[in-house]
Amino acid sequence: MASDSLTITDNRTGKTYEVPIQYGTFPLYGASIRGADLKNIRVSAEDFGLMSFDPAFLNSASCKSAITFIDGERGILRYRGYPIEQLAEQSNYMEVAYLLVHGELPTKGEYDLWTREITEHTMVHENLKRVFDGFHYDAHPMPMLISTLAALSTFYPASRHVEDPAIREHQIYRLIGKVGTLAALAYRHTKGLPYVMPDNDLSYVGNFMNMLWRMAECRYTPNPTLEKALDVLFILHADHEQNCSTNTMRIVASAESDPYCAAAAAASALYGPLHGGANEAVLTMLRQIRSKDKVPQFIKDVKERKALLMGFGHRVYKNYDPRAKVIKRLADEVFDVTGKNPLIELAVELERIALQDDYFVSRKLFPNVDFYSGIIYEAMGMPSEYFTVVFAVPRMAGWLAQWQEMILDQEQKIARPRQVYTGVAIRDYEPIEKRRATS
Ligand code: ACO
Repeated sequence: MASDSLTITDNRTGKTYEVPIQYGTFPLYGASIRGADLKNIRVSAEDFGLMSFDPAFLNSASCKSAITFIDGERGILRYRGYPIEQLAEQSNYMEVAYLLVHGELPTKGEYDLWTREITEHTMVHENLKRVFDGFHYDAHPMPMLISTLAALSTFYPASRHVEDPAIREHQIYRLIGKVGTLAALAYRHTKGLPYVMPDNDLSYVGNFMNMLWRMAECRYTPNPTLEKALDVLFILHADHEQNCSTNTMRIVASAESDPYCAAAAAASALYGPLHGGANEAVLTMLRQIRSKDKVPQFIKDVKERKALLMGFGHRVYKNYDPRAKVIKRLADEVFDVTGKNPLIELAVELERIALQDDYFVSRKLFPNVDFYSGIIYEAMGMPSEYFTVVFAVPRMAGWLAQWQEMILDQEQKIARPRQVYTGVAIRDYEPIEKRRATS
């Protein structure tokens, strides 16, 4: 009779073990055994027990989560059960941020309160502006954002009481509110422009645009098409389950560090070119390729492993990233306002040729969220080194939702993986004069 368990025979000892199998919402996408159950499999009483060896967490679930669902084979992404396409079409970023953090779409009253609380927390202390003043004129904006996220911790020492729900709630308002302000300060610093403080009469995204782009006018009025497009981009970037930066957020916060320092660590992970930094790398790549006739040679270089096709491939998606589909459609709406970014034609050609090539087809490498997003950001007037910062602003909602979920999860403890030790077993210390050079 079928049973929800796994029978393991250890051929070293001939012993058999029965390990329970547990499931998530979808049995076919969430069946797992507990790694700790393997520890009972041992050859002797002194044996530490069997571990699973999984560098880079290729097949290890680190938590149970009810926030985001991805079916990478079928190109499906849902937040709290809602398909990303429906949210991008019908919702807005503030509502999606609430959904991620609270688990349900807000009522009108809940939405108004949430938006008001976040809006009221968009200001930053004047001293933070002086932190920005200390950065070099050509500092990369992402490390500026990372540093000032951590610096927020110094202004809110009570945030260390992560066990207190009211304190947690307050930091969620502050972090979602202030991340856009810090991001904008980093932009203005890079440009040598005076800092612009928030305008609380604008939407979350409209205010972000105001803090980036307001010049001499008394009041900044965001272009509605660009405001809507940026809002959709924010929705698409808001969460993506246990990716590198989210996992970092959870790991740092598992030591009960405050959420500002944990978010700074998460943003540091996002900065890497294999993660959120890929949107910047895509533009560098497109500029190097320069023209459509150079695409075949570039693809050849990729296949010979001289280069990576940035913005392609994903640990989880083995199909077209559903976010890239929405972004590709959005590009035309943005270009109607900004004029066409010539790099789009190069990107479309690169995608067309790559998707016909067996190297990419056999490895299931498709465009990811970063392939087209940078081209839109650039058309809006953002420099390429700023793209990852624009990714981090909406991802804050996801990081915080995952942080809160982890803190409330009774099964979670401080994160601490095991290792397979491969070094010298034991040896005696030798005084320096007796040592021989090893190289
Ligand atoms: N260009 C060329 N070859 C690639 C690419 C790529 N972009 N991505 C993967 N491959 C190849 C690998 O060389 C490997 O080939 P092999 O099996 O012959 O050695 C195979 O495809 C599998 O790739 P892995 O590197 O094992 O896949 P992994 O899941 O570890 O990496 C990653 C995923 C980091 C996203 C990778 O696809 C990559 O480097 N992409 C480019 C950077 C990028 O766009 N990152 C953004 C991801 S989305 C995000 O984080 C927001």
